[in-house]
Amino acid sequence: MSFLGLIGGIGLVGSVHNDIEKVLIAEEVIEKRLDAIAERIYGDFKDEPTLQVVAILKGALVFMADLLRRVPLKLEIECLNVASYHGGTESSGRVDFLDRTMPDVKGRSILLLDDILDTGRTLSVVSAKLQDLGAREVRTCVLLTKDKKRIEEVEADYSAFEIGDEFVVGYGLDFDGKYRNLPYVGVLRKEVIES
Ligand code: XMP
Repeated sequence: MSFLGLIGGIGLVGSVHNDIEKVLIAEEVIEKRLDAIAERIYGDFKDEPTLQVVAILKGALVFMADLLRRVPLKLEIECLNVASYHGGTESSGRVDFLDRTMPDVKGRSILLLDDILDTGRTLSVVSAKLQDLGAREVRTCVLLTKDKKRIEEVEADYSAFEIGDEFVVGYGLDFDGKYRNLPYVGVLRKEVIES
């Protein structure tokens, strides 16, 4: 267990944990599940000479680092800066590409990583973009899938956990830019969101 998980607990002055109402998915549970997802990815892509991973920043940062270190393949890693929330707890309905240049994906098999599948807009817009750029195949992988009706009909090829339709933070997911460093997935206290 990490330092944050072990002693950064509720009550410690300045601790980020004080803002958390409940832990939804504990660090140890995430770790075990990542082993299983990594094994599947390895099995599915082991015949590719190299696998091109594209991770959507910033939400996929922690998930990407922990997942990919478990995948014993020759990986190339690219990141895309994409914004869809713009600070609140509801999707803005727009997906903005913030990078000046796009990765060269022509003819490549792509594993697209994101933190969470919510309305489906981000994965659907980014997958379409990679296909437009000439990717041979795009498979998608998310840490979390929200159990709700999607605006875009998209499901992830690999999904570590299904959660209810509530706003979550931690393990890469933020509220107003914060809480990404929590080692678990949790729900914020109402007062924190309202303040
Ligand atoms: P869509 O709606 O495009 O959502 O599938 C994907 C992006 O929206 C953000 N998102 C969240 N961020 N807690 C967060 O911190 C949440 O519960 C949440 N739901 C969606 C996230 O950036 C994701 O990439």
